[in-house]
Amino acid sequence: MKPVVPVLTALAVAGAFATVVHAQSPDRQIKYRQAALATMGYHFFGVLAPMAKGERPYDAAAAARSAKYVSEVSAMPWEGFGPGTDAGAPTKAKPEIWKDKARFDKLAQDMQIETAKLAKAAGTDLASLRTAVSATAKACTNCHDDFRAK
Ligand code: HEC
Repeated sequence: MKPVVPVLTALAVAGAFATVVHAQSPDRQIKYRQAALATMGYHFFGVLAPMAKGERPYDAAAAARSAKYVSEVSAMPWEGFGPGTDAGAPTKAKPEIWKDKARFDKLAQDMQIETAKLAKAAGTDLASLRTAVSATAKACTNCHDDFRAK
């Protein structure tokens, strides 16, 4: 019955590793979520909103590309808001997030519905981009107003 011990050891190691992957340190989660949010902001506030406002010429291909990035990245920040990540690295996340996580998660979901629409609309024409940008901006603000410090 010799192989039993190595097998159990391997399972224990795999189990420990899985735990580490699941809950990374508060510092890493905070930096991770900020990086994802900053990436979204780069394409949303830096490319799409200026096009919608006429501060930058409308370019269907560039709009479609940025909107696709915003939509894909909009799924990412949320796993960086794990328990205990209200403090660690400097953060603007308000402690209210963890007191009303269900509402926070719902606002994150609602925003992803708008970014999916944005990804479809952005490359169509300027009027469609404008409509989708303003709906998405509202979905960003709905959360920032209550859950992000100024
Ligand atoms: C469900 C809530 C929620 C939604 C929806 C949301 N945000 Fe945020 N956002 C936050 C929180 C909380 C922070 C502060 C994170 C921190 O400092 O740890 C933040 C921070 C940011 C930052 C600053 C990142 C940095 O640290 O450099 C940008 C840029 C940003 N959000 C853009 C957006 C955009 C664009 C949208 C909409 C497409 C959006 N956010 C939607 C909650 C949200």
